[in-house]
Amino acid sequence: MLMTRHPAAAAILVAIVPLVLSLSVAATPPVDLAAGEASYAKCMGCHSPEYNRTGPLHCGLLGRESGAVQFFDYSEAMRGAGLIWNAETLDRFLAAPLEMVPGTSMGFAGIADDEERRNLIAWLATLNSSSDECREVLSPRTGSP
Ligand code: HEC
Repeated sequence: MLMTRHPAAAAILVAIVPLVLSLSVAATPPVDLAAGEASYAKCMGCHSPEYNRTGPLHCGLLGRESGAVQFFDYSEAMRGAGLIWNAETLDRFLAAPLEMVPGTSMGFAGIADDEERRNLIAWLATLNSSSDECREVLSPRTGSP
């Protein structure tokens, strides 16, 4: 095989592959937060940033453990999922909720479009303690998650 017979070629590949990967990342268009917020309309039948409804609140979602919002009655499946919600886990979950967390009570088919998920997740990431909507909910004083 090329890699074993030509160590120099292998070294070049090792040097080039990350470069090509980083170029392809750089080539993806910038996130569109307004589009992400518009997509959240698909979630608002069940979720709101600051209140538990049919689904748990989304303030502070990025970086939080799955199934961890206080006073929300999660499914067994979500309680046992053991995930940390970040861009990668949210991307997989929102593409196909039931495939990633079989048995979840989230009755939502998923978002097929990669770009739409990326924008939506970027917008969800803004629901942190420096956003007007979430500051109160996430303040340690109120004792909420
Ligand atoms: C039909 C109602 C419904 C819709 C629509 C819906 N969800 Fe959910 N969602 C739920 C329920 C119910 C849960 C709790 C699932 C469980 O316990 O298995 C949940 C859980 C979640 C969780 C896990 C939260 C946690 O604290 O672990 C995330 C993330 C999430 N939803 C994001 C979204 C996003 C983003 C959208 C819109 C694209 C959306 N959901 C649309 C009902 C819904």
